[in-house]
Amino acid sequence: MSLPKRYLITSALPYANGLKHVGHLAGAYIPADIYARYLRAQKRDVVFVCGSDEHGTAIPIQATKEGTTPRAIIDKYHAAMKQDFEDLSMSFDIYHRTSEPIHHETAQEFFTYLNDRGELEIKETEQYFDEEANSFLADRYIKGTCPNCGSDRAFGDQCETCGRTLSPDELINPVSTLSGKAPIKKKTSHWYLPLGKHEAFLREWILEQHKDDWRPTVIGQCKSWIEGGLQSRAVTRDLDWGIKVPVAGADGKMLYVWFDAPIGYVSATKQWAIDNNKDWKPYWYDKDTKLVHFIGKDNIVFHCIIFPIMLKLHGNILPENVPANEFLNLEGDKMSTSRNWKLDMRDYINDFVKKENGGGQCVDMLRYYLTQIAPETKDSEFMWKGFQDAVNSELVSKFGNFVNRTWVLMHKLCGGKVPRLHEELLDENDRTLFTDIKDAKTKIENLLEEYKFREALFEVIELSRKGNQYMQKKEPWIVAKKLAENPESQKSIDNTLHICLQLTANLAILANPFLPNTARKMLHLMKVVEKMLDWDNAGKINLLSVGYTLREPQLLFRQIDDEEIKTQIEKLKSGLLKMEEPKKEEVKPEVPAKAVIQFDDFAKIELKTGTILTAEKVEKADKLLKLSVDLGNEVRTIVSGIALHYQPEEIVGRQVTVVTNLAPRKMRGIESNGMIVMAEDKAGKLHFISPAQPIDPGSTVS
Ligand code: 2FM
Ligand code: ZN
Repeated sequence: MSLPKRYLITSALPYANGLKHVGHLAGAYIPADIYARYLRAQKRDVVFVCGSDEHGTAIPIQATKEGTTPRAIIDKYHAAMKQDFEDLSMSFDIYHRTSEPIHHETAQEFFTYLNDRGELEIKETEQYFDEEANSFLADRYIKGTCPNCGSDRAFGDQCETCGRTLSPDELINPVSTLSGKAPIKKKTSHWYLPLGKHEAFLREWILEQHKDDWRPTVIGQCKSWIEGGLQSRAVTRDLDWGIKVPVAGADGKMLYVWFDAPIGYVSATKQWAIDNNKDWKPYWYDKDTKLVHFIGKDNIVFHCIIFPIMLKLHGNILPENVPANEFLNLEGDKMSTSRNWKLDMRDYINDFVKKENGGGQCVDMLRYYLTQIAPETKDSEFMWKGFQDAVNSELVSKFGNFVNRTWVLMHKLCGGKVPRLHEELLDENDRTLFTDIKDAKTKIENLLEEYKFREALFEVIELSRKGNQYMQKKEPWIVAKKLAENPESQKSIDNTLHICLQLTANLAILANPFLPNTARKMLHLMKVVEKMLDWDNAGKINLLSVGYTLREPQLLFRQIDDEEIKTQIEKLKSGLLKMEEPKKEEVKPEVPAKAVIQFDDFAKIELKTGTILTAEKVEKADKLLKLSVDLGNEVRTIVSGIALHYQPEEIVGRQVTVVTNLAPRKMRGIESNGMIVMAEDKAGKLHFISPAQPIDPGSTVS
């Protein structure tokens, strides 16, 4: 079969509404990165795109939670996620964002193209509406009980507990997240993509053409969607955050986030092409491009059914494969942001990568473990003990140990140089190892082409295990003891170490897609350039030149000790405890702690909303922050005792409640003109009292 001319690899665009955890990393990012690195090492034409998904109701909802604006939220989390991906060696060719004008234009053009050709239909339906907030309730603005798994935290677009895609009408006991009240139904018009019209195409394309090369879990989900009856899907929403529907008179209507987000792959490719002086079109129009979407299983319907229909109607190529992963659990429970049962990429980076003995090796340790347990065929489990075992008994004891033994012995027995190979002395063990090296290359290649990353990684470690076994059989350190009586035996030592060194070079090439930092450290040890990592070099047994001096031994990986694991498990459990609802018996009766006052007493207090403009620490006062607060028609200086709870930079932009008629008070020489109202939780942490939605500073609170 001839190779495609070019590859376009995509990783799901994460929502810019919070930090992402290692479950996300294992699902849509590490496998894509391995694949992209492998293709690049093959010298194939590949573009690997990703970016932040900055629309949808998740963004303004997070803004409300943090008392700030949607814009501030996407800026904050886009930067944070980009940094996390960089710190974990993701090799995107571009990490773009859907708030960019080029994306808005691209998504609007898509919509117009489909609409102008009559591929969308307008329907008037009744949708949930919050009378108190005077707002339609799209997607995450509505919550209720999942009809599939019974979780009472399901959203109007999806249940995050079981992953099922939902529509608001399917929720049992729907409640508005704006007011907490039961919504009413109200008429509204929207554009719909009639999926049913494309059933024959989907059946042929997915259930026939791809029945053998797509993962059974992916085919299974698609089949159940197709056979369950394909309903028309609304591609617009009544919202004030998103991409405007490009039709005159469609005020207040935005493109549905799942309409615009996958188009983000196209706009990212366009931006990449601009940045690199390339043509983006062949990547989306030429049939000789292989498009592969890496996603988690909750995104299957969008990438296998809805987006492909859009692509087909728009004249683009279709994905060749969508190797979706199942979910990754953590220590026996589902990973969950709301319950704080998760390991954020940022936490791993801070606790391992940025630590003194961290760096690239800790990045590769995580990449290794997450690939070894990748949920390719079913949900899998991240266990801290499993992480420790994988690192200590495989990376350290097999891979690292083989390379280290080779280096130490080569320095001790061969003067730190690549010894020559005495071909006339090659024996059965040597020849078997040569075959193993060649076979490993073929096996890994075939597995990667089939998106079987777990098995491919296993073959890399297996080859290092064979290296250790070979070394054990040859025992060059024992042979060395008899050198005085038999100087000829130096040749046997030379052969063993020559072969082990060539095997090390091969291991670097084969491990490179999975463990890029380790591969580079190995290049350093071997004093060779990056070019050696070309995939074509794998299987060769003459990669290191005879007589070439190599560097001193250096360990590739450190051990993970019991204490580190214990700390992580404790951290996880204490995080969960903080989030758990207090048990009923612990709830104290609601007795007012202060004397009862009359309304007139209360009416003396003036409360207003304010926006924090600046915040800085007060010298020699651990607890105090000096704030400037915008109160609409004036900016006040307020000194607040919140420094132990908030960093100055995290509260700028936040909306707060202020007592504005409190007599001025001097604190540490600074005159404070007002007081920020705070709520204290059971753990003693202070929380701002912020409006549920952004509001003008200076608004009266009563
Ligand atoms: O599930 C999610 O996190 C979505 N933001 C994924 C979007 S993938 C693509 F379509 F952009
Ligand atoms: Zn559910």
